[in-house]
Amino acid sequence: MSDICLTKVFTPVTHDLELFRQEFERALTSDVDLINQIGAYIQSVGGKRIRPALVLLSARSCGEPNDNSIIAASLVEILHTATLVHDDIVDDSEIRRGQPSVKAIWKNKIAVLAGDFLFSRALSSMLRLRDFRTLGLLAGTSESLSSGELLQLEKSLNNGMDEEIYYKMIWAKTASLFATACQVGALTVTANEDQVQALHEYGRCLGLAFQIKDDLLDCTGTAARIGKPVARDIKANLITLPLIHALKNLPSKTSHRIRRQLRNSPSRRQISAIMELISGNGGITYAENKCAELTRQAIEALDIFPDSPYKSALIDMANYNHTRTK
Ligand code: IPE
Ligand code: IPE
Ligand code: MG
Ligand code: MG
Repeated sequence: MSDICLTKVFTPVTHDLELFRQEFERALTSDVDLINQIGAYIQSVGGKRIRPALVLLSARSCGEPNDNSIIAASLVEILHTATLVHDDIVDDSEIRRGQPSVKAIWKNKIAVLAGDFLFSRALSSMLRLRDFRTLGLLAGTSESLSSGELLQLEKSLNNGMDEEIYYKMIWAKTASLFATACQVGALTVTANEDQVQALHEYGRCLGLAFQIKDDLLDCTGTAARIGKPVARDIKANLITLPLIHALKNLPSKTSHRIRRQLRNSPSRRQISAIMELISGNGGITYAENKCAELTRQAIEALDIFPDSPYKSALIDMANYNHTRTK
């Protein structure tokens, strides 16, 4: 299936996204030159900008965006960027968005501090919203992001990852931000609780599907296409859905052997054998089916909204994720 073009999905909020871009640019500057250099680099490399688009499309689905909608869009992208800067240190990843990662250029010490700076900037932006409910949502989500990453590491170290914990983990590290982006976008323009909850549910399902897709692409993609290294989850003993399912289908002796290899920095040959094993034992198909099911649930959550270009764009976004190859 071919990719749905993101530019087309973003069309109904082109103007709002330009305001977001200006706000985001302001948020990445300070009176410290090094911060400005890193900020400019992050801006120039870009990213798909899915989360700010979700804030704005959600706001437009419920009303007319205002200054708070733009601040919220910038804020979720800052939080997302901070987690990526830190994630590349944790995963020891030199490439992000097809370019050298912040940690590859400035090294770990500076990258840790730059990520911290971004989190603090997000905090300051939150205060500008002057709304306790959105503040609570965003603060809770930023806590979730790091606890999700820590849960993943804990389970990698103690060998305890299973399907149930996997969903809990991807909710925390990825889907909670999607859900909050949509919910906060709505809250900046409406008090209609049914709409706010529907968008939260849409974001939750889309976010889960998004991380499952990311984990699938780690198994099936190419580095050139996805702009970051592949098979890195396996290399780092981060056990994701395709592998969890494949391991369940294997005789326990084989599955123990694989788990042992994963814990002991598998060789290149072992990695490709594990990849074969994942697809040979239904791991890819299983994760693809879950992604499809969550995509359907995301779209269903939008049923309460009347037809509009914004609703269509949210539907297209879910289908985009389902079919994306990068
Ligand atoms: C990457 O998110 C991290 C995950 C949650 C899988 P994106 O794929 O949205 O990253 P960018 O911003 O487009 O680089
Ligand atoms: C998402 O997980 C990480 C964050 C939410 C920060 P991944 O570790 O799979 O993200 P990528 O693959 O490095 O983008
Ligand atoms: Mg990572
Ligand atoms: Mg990944």
